[in-house]
Amino acid sequence: MVNLKKIDVFYSLHSFQEDELRDKTVVIIDVLRASSTIVTAFMNGAKAIIPVGDMGEASKIAQNVDSDNYLLCGEKDGEKIEGYDLGNSPLEYTKEIVEGKTLIFNTTNGTKAIKKSLGSSKTYISAFLNVNAIVEELKAQTNDIVLVCAGWKGRLAFEDMLLAGNIIHLLSEGNLPNDARDGAKVAFGLYDKYGDDISTVIHQSNHAMRLKDIIDSGDIDYCCQVDITNILPRLKEGMITLTDG
Ligand code: MLT
Repeated sequence: MVNLKKIDVFYSLHSFQEDELRDKTVVIIDVLRASSTIVTAFMNGAKAIIPVGDMGEASKIAQNVDSDNYLLCGEKDGEKIEGYDLGNSPLEYTKEIVEGKTLIFNTTNGTKAIKKSLGSSKTYISAFLNVNAIVEELKAQTNDIVLVCAGWKGRLAFEDMLLAGNIIHLLSEGNLPNDARDGAKVAFGLYDKYGDDISTVIHQSNHAMRLKDIIDSGDIDYCCQVDITNILPRLKEGMITLTDG
């Protein structure tokens, strides 16, 4: 049983230093939409994903690989980047397009959060889509655990905190001790209040509103699906692949 006092929640990628993740088990959460897109790409047979911190890094890698096997993917401020093969809509990452491919993935917040966790003991990628897979994995951890919400440009993103709360609710079976970390209590309380109808509240979130006019409206509904896969992507040596076993 995981020690609930050893779980913390960071509310945005700008709210901590890399060193604070050292030797910890880290879960990266960017419900809208980077972590949902990563999970979906693997559901549809992507071979690996290389998270990058910015456009410069993405193009440098893209220039040195075989374009038959690699796709350049991602967004800036929610919109597909000119010249990229794919944007950040999970609905674009179909089997026909991503099967067997390695994706170079560049997003405004999500991939930057992943890059910040390179010094962790283990880093997993979670969305509502694979919530039970991450909960089962965390139950076996002995390290301190940090749920890193990517947020939006330093601000809290409601949907990321809500998933952190869902994970803590499941781990604690709805009973979080009073001496849990502040971040864990805030996320738990948020899920307690809003967890009954996540789709409605996520549609009303700031980021859903921000994306409303620039993305396919199906994206938000898609990202609100709970536990549709056991796939659990993991970062290893700078590359995201599937967990072994
Ligand atoms: C991000 O990384 O900031 C997001 O995934 C943005 C988006 O919704 O495209």
